[in-house]
Amino acid sequence: MAEASNELEGPDLEKGYKIGELVDRTMLLGYAFGEPVLVAKRGAELFAIGATCTHYGGPLVKGLIVDHTVRCPWHHACFDLRTGEAIAAPALNDTSCWKIQKRGERFYVTGKTDNKQARKSRSSPASVVIVGAGAAGGAAAEMLRREGYAGPVTLISADEFLPYDRPNLSKDYLAGTAPEEWIPLWPPDFYREQKIDTLTRTEVKAIDPKRKEVTLSDRRSLYYGALLLATGAEPVRLAIPGNDLPHVCYLRTLADSRRIIDKAKNAKRAVVIGASFIGLEVAASLRERKVEVAVVGKDPQPLEKILGRELGNLIRETHEAHDVRF
Ligand SMILES: Cc1cc2nc3c(=O)[nH]c(=O)nc-3n(C[C@H](O)[C@H](O)[C@H](O)COP(=O)(O)OP(=O)(O)OC[C@H]3O[C@@H](n4cnc5c(N)ncnc54)[C@H](O)[C@@H]3O)c2cc1C
Ligand code: FES
Repeated sequence: MAEASNELEGPDLEKGYKIGELVDRTMLLGYAFGEPVLVAKRGAELFAIGATCTHYGGPLVKGLIVDHTVRCPWHHACFDLRTGEAIAAPALNDTSCWKIQKRGERFYVTGKTDNKQARKSRSSPASVVIVGAGAAGGAAAEMLRREGYAGPVTLISADEFLPYDRPNLSKDYLAGTAPEEWIPLWPPDFYREQKIDTLTRTEVKAIDPKRKEVTLSDRRSLYYGALLLATGAEPVRLAIPGNDLPHVCYLRTLADSRRIIDKAKNAKRAVVIGASFIGLEVAASLRERKVEVAVVGKDPQPLEKILGRELGNLIRETHEAHDVRF
């Protein structure tokens, strides 16, 4: 994933800026109180929020204004310009919100503010059980609390870890350029603070909709007022001889990625089966670790089905320039 810049750019917005120089539905990057601030103009309204996407630091000024929101140019997270609230994945944390004062022909950023409206506390349904603690399950639990739901929320995961940044497992984390601290989507305290009960290494084995109960792998039953299934997907397992040999790895979980990293320490060569996004990311990450890589795919060019032959060819050449073989 790309690196965010920490340098402050643009005008000092504490000193003010000419309103007339802002173009409608465009954004200005500046700074105030030592932090990057994004100012957006929409008709007569001016908004100021933190300029850096809380997902991976994307520059919001290069994003798109859509109604009262800005979309990050990197992975399209969406923030409310009125409040800084993160309202669509993959960003899970709000950005800051700043006060703007108009004086004469200029506007000034005068400090941080909290424009978020307090949500009405709600206790219906009686409880919410979420099956699957991936990004979707975790975000659903967080949003229930954000929207004021006060009843019991239980997040159940077959995985040993609470929600983590799965996309990073084939990218910087696998390449060795992102530390493991970056991987959890929320810190462990978050679940306690938000009163979200968590069950890891626990599979839901059965659902009884009449009794409103799920049966867990440890044979306990759990009542639910509402049930959310956020069970995600699994990689396609190869039904070929040798698929269960000890040096064959799949990549879906943090444990899988750790296992590949461990094997890459002593491996000279790797074969990646699958020439789409994840396979190619793994190839690039393993090259970072100086492992020789060959990629095996069904189509003549990688990603050809999705991007067409020409772009597929360009991607292939880019990887070949880094000594990946196809
Ligand atoms: C290596 C890798 C790289 C990726 N890169 C990108 C990317 O760059 N961009 C992008 O947009 N997407 C990417 N993806 C896809 C992205 O990670 C998924 O779309 C996303 O994880 C889906 O989130 P989810 O919460 O719906 O499901 P998941 O993340 O799959 O989570 C589902 C969870 O449910 C649990 N579960 C399943 N069944 C049960 C059960 N019966 N009981 C209890 N728990 C259960 C699973 O153990 C899992 O923890 C990548 C995926 C991988 C594996
Ligand atoms: S950095 Fe903004 S969405 Fe990922």
